[in-house]
Amino acid sequence: MIISNEDDRKNLARACRIVAETLYALGGMIRPGVTTKELELFADEMVRSKSGVPVFKGYRGYPSSICTSVNEQVVHGIPSATRYLKEGDIIGIDLGVKYNGFIGDSAVTFPVGPVSDDAKRLMEVTSEALEHGIAKAVAGNNVSDISAAVQGHAEDNGYSVVRAFVGHGLGRELHEEPQIPNYVVKKNDYPLKEGLVLAIEPMVNAGGFEVSVLGDGWTAVTADGSLSAHFEHTVVVRDKVPEVLTKL
Ligand code: MF3
Ligand code: CO
Repeated sequence: MIISNEDDRKNLARACRIVAETLYALGGMIRPGVTTKELELFADEMVRSKSGVPVFKGYRGYPSSICTSVNEQVVHGIPSATRYLKEGDIIGIDLGVKYNGFIGDSAVTFPVGPVSDDAKRLMEVTSEALEHGIAKAVAGNNVSDISAAVQGHAEDNGYSVVRAFVGHGLGRELHEEPQIPNYVVKKNDYPLKEGLVLAIEPMVNAGGFEVSVLGDGWTAVTADGSLSAHFEHTVVVRDKVPEVLTKL
């Protein structure tokens, strides 16, 4: 959607703030021995305590309020009472919240205790790739400028970007026009206009870009078993400086 008045902007910003505060709190809970289900329960309660509604739960039948994707899991991992985090894991947590009709969406990948240098670098490069993409979210650019910035940074560092999932417009719905691929797609480019709300979300693999989906119908994993990282922000396109709403 295009944000066109201050009331709408305030509600959207509030939704995004609930997302950011909850992800920040979840970051403080990450340690060996915690289950992904504990993270889910905490997040669901925290979001509701702030008058937000988690939007992933029930979306196309998705069963949980957050996605928890560990190591070779790329996105859409389902929280589980039997998945215990262990030292050296990395975990991507994705959360979408509706507040007063407006939706914010963000994801962070956290280390569980000390992690390998490879894992650290993958997380760093993915988060940088997101920042490079965000910097292109200015009026007059096209979606492909965001894609090129993300893909360039990931591939310059020897990694690959996932093709099977993309970022998206959002606002009143979780997924709106346009799609934001993390790789350059020449046809159907889309001009960025002042006020357009976007979720930019690179998924970067240490190995190849191919993914497959597990038997639960949701959990996407790297086809070659390599590590994957995911970072996402909700951003408003502006004339000069993009407005990132899911940062504290
Ligand atoms: N951030 C992801 C997305 O925009 C998470 C969606 S999980 C789902 O697609 F369960 F809602 F699908
Ligand atoms: Co998203």
